[in-house]
Amino acid sequence: MDYGPMSLRGKTVLVTGGGQGIGRTLVEAFARAGSRVVAADIQETAVAAVAEGLCGQGLQASGAALDVTDEQQVRALSRSLLDSHGGVDVLVNNAALFSTLTMQPFDEIELDVWEKVLKVNLTGPFLCAKHFAPIMRDKGEGRIINVASGAVTLGRPNYLHYIASKSGLVGMSRSMARELGPHGVTVNAVLPGSVDTGIQRETVTPEAKSRIVAMQCIPRGQVPQDLVGVMLFLASDSSAFITGQSITVDGGATHS
Ligand SMILES: NC(=O)c1ccc[n+]([C@@H]2O[C@H](COP(=O)([O-])OP(=O)(O)OC[C@H]3O[C@@H](n4cnc5c(N)ncnc54)[C@H](O)[C@@H]3O)[C@@H](O)[C@H]2O)c1
Repeated sequence: MDYGPMSLRGKTVLVTGGGQGIGRTLVEAFARAGSRVVAADIQETAVAAVAEGLCGQGLQASGAALDVTDEQQVRALSRSLLDSHGGVDVLVNNAALFSTLTMQPFDEIELDVWEKVLKVNLTGPFLCAKHFAPIMRDKGEGRIINVASGAVTLGRPNYLHYIASKSGLVGMSRSMARELGPHGVTVNAVLPGSVDTGIQRETVTPEAKSRIVAMQCIPRGQVPQDLVGVMLFLASDSSAFITGQSITVDGGATHS
């Protein structure tokens, strides 16, 4: 089905961190929406399996091994996608250190852990934008969607490295939107609430989950599928005049 200005048919979409969790759901959603989706992840076998499953359903998907913190790898992927797909139309910066993180008081966070979180969660999206945006700029159109977190508006405790990285990503989205707007490229941040991806996380106890659901206007657990609508919209031509925005998808837990 073609949704006119909402259509993603024929668009090339790169989703980082597409091997599991929210990224995986987004890869599947973009493929079902008719785009040619590239799932990139440090977990090479995971993205290969995701892509293979989608190709088996007659959809267009491929997997790419990528460490978003390695500029050489990011540059190489941008060049290879320029050759094979004419560049990417949509970049979804989703990869992050998240489910593997331990919560701890900020003054107990080791410097190397702090630096690693900032490197993956903030430098990674910077590097991907640095190498993929120029191709969009040359074409005069493109979409960058940065997956931040609703936790930045809450200022969740014992998560300082993560919150700092995602707050930086929100600021980066606004600033990048100003630089790229004149070239037809939009940059927005999506702020999910607490999403149950099925991946085990130390940071969410059943009590913490109930507390979060109780804060929401829509009192049910959030699932990755809840993010799909806003992602497809922000990737489409319909959102051409929306840029530099932070869009919260958390069932109304926070109001920004
Ligand atoms: N699940 C939630 O509740 C929630 C809430 C708010 C925001 N988010 C954000 O949504 C995004 C996805 O979350 P998730 O729950 O699926 O997380 P996840 O930890 O399950 O998945 C993260 C993915 O990123 C990949 N990755 C990690 N380091 C990488 C690197 N250096 N290069 C390339 N890939 C790398 C991992 O291999 C993994 O596939 C993240 O940006 C996260 O911060 C999640």
